[in-house]
Amino acid sequence: LERTFSIIKPDATRRNLTGAVNALIEKAGLRIVAQKRIQLTRAQAETFYGVHKERPFFGELVDFMISEPIVVQVLEGENAVAKYREVMGATNPANAAEGTIRKEFALSVGENSAHGSDSLENAQIEIAQFFSGNEIVG
Ligand code: GTP
Ligand code: MG
Repeated sequence: LERTFSIIKPDATRRNLTGAVNALIEKAGLRIVAQKRIQLTRAQAETFYGVHKERPFFGELVDFMISEPIVVQVLEGENAVAKYREVMGATNPANAAEGTIRKEFALSVGENSAHGSDSLENAQIEIAQFFSGNEIVG
């Protein structure tokens, strides 16, 4: 079984949608094997999205990610990385398929309700940024 890293973003936590997002995750057959609600520091957000630091929206993205608490999660299942990308839907909710998290809940391309790792390698790096081994119970 594979594991991926997920964030329920501030636009969703603010609107009390944590449970609604989790329902779509679980309906897809992914198991939430670790979960906590945290407030990101600016430094943590800049590190986490460091790959985007030259992009024009980087400042806006970091400001958004620290604007409210988030929920960080580890999801486990078959092909968890690819499966969760499918469950989230396209980055821009205008392009997201029916029934996906972003189609159902996202407000805009920036405030798009969920993050999911884009590769198994990044999943391992991202999980290690937020969870110690004994916090993940499969
Ligand atoms: P993540 O799972 O959050 O990494 O999303 P993604 O992999 O679908 O998209 P990508 O890695 O390309 O972008 C990371 C995040 O930056 C997106 O989820 C958005 O929140 C934000 N983002 C991407 N493009 C834009 C944009 O044009 N404007 C703004 N404001 N934010 C953007
Ligand atoms: Mg990404």
